[in-house]
Amino acid sequence: MPELAYVNGTIGPIGEAKVSIEDRGYQFADAVYEVVVSYNGKPFLLDEHMVRLKRSMTGLQFATVDLTALEKEMRNLFDVSEIDNAALYLQISRGAAPRNHAYGSQMAPQIIMTIRPAPALPAEKRARGYKVITVPDTRWGRCDLKTVQLSSNGMAKQQALDSGADDAIFVGDDDILREGTSSNLFMVIGGEIITHPADERILPGITRQAVIAICEELNLPVRLEKIPQSGLAKVEELFLTGTVTEVLSVVSINGQSVGDGKPGPVAQKLQQAYVAKSGR
Ligand code: PDD
Repeated sequence: MPELAYVNGTIGPIGEAKVSIEDRGYQFADAVYEVVVSYNGKPFLLDEHMVRLKRSMTGLQFATVDLTALEKEMRNLFDVSEIDNAALYLQISRGAAPRNHAYGSQMAPQIIMTIRPAPALPAEKRARGYKVITVPDTRWGRCDLKTVQLSSNGMAKQQALDSGADDAIFVGDDDILREGTSSNLFMVIGGEIITHPADERILPGITRQAVIAICEELNLPVRLEKIPQSGLAKVEELFLTGTVTEVLSVVSINGQSVGDGKPGPVAQKLQQAYVAKSGR
C-alpha cells in the first residue's frame, strides 16, 4: 500500500518528488487542483472531477492538457498504489518560468499528484456533528475555480480549531452564508433543503451536485438560494458536503445550537444514501 507521487509522468516515493522552484504554482499560486477519493479501489465521481478540472483550467486560460491521457494516469496511480480507500491530490500549474507576472502563451502546464490513504473522519465526530464559527470571506472573486490560493481557507480553518470549533463558514460582505473552508453548505428551513447557487462565490462541489441528485431521487425538494447569517434562527438543520467530508451535520454555529443541537434526520438520511451511492 505505498503512498506515491507523480511528477509530469514519473511515479516515485513522495519524499523524492521534485518540482522547479520557478513553478508558477509555487510563486503565484497559479495552479488548479482536484481531490478524488476511491472506495474499495474504485475512484468515485472521477468523470465529474475531470469536467470541473477542465472548467478551472479554461477559466484561468491554461494551455490545453490531454485530459483523456491524464485520466488514464490517475486511474493507473489508484491501481499501482493498491490503497483501498485513497485520496488522490492532483495539481496542475500554468507552468515554470523565470518570475514574471505576465505569462504569455507558451507555458507547459506542470502536473503533479500524490496518493495516500483517505483521511477518515473519526466516527464519534461524525456522530456528534461539527461545531463551526463564521468568518468574513476574504477570498478572491472567483471561488468557482478550484485554485490553490487557499491562504484564507487555511487561516479560517486554523481560527476555528484555535477557538475550539471544527471548521469555519465564510460569510460575504452581504451577510450571505457561502461555504465551509473545504466543503459546501446546506440548510433545512421549513422542511426545504437550501444551498447557495453555483455562482462565482462558491466552489461548485462534486459532492454538492451528487447530494442534490440524491435529494431529487428521494423526492426531497432542493432550492438554490442565498441565506443570510441573520436568518440562522429559522434553520432546522445545517450540514456540510465535500469529497472528504461527505455529508456532515453542523450542530452549533458561533456557540449557538442549530435546531436541537444534534445531527438532524435529513443530513443522516443523505449521508446514508451517499455512502450507498459510493458502493460501500
Ligand atoms: N475541497 N468548497 C471548497 C472551498 C472546497 O475546497 C471544497 C473541496 C468543496 C467541496 O467540493 P467537493 O465536493 O468537490 O470535494 C467546497 C477539497 C476536498 C480540498 O480542498 O481538500
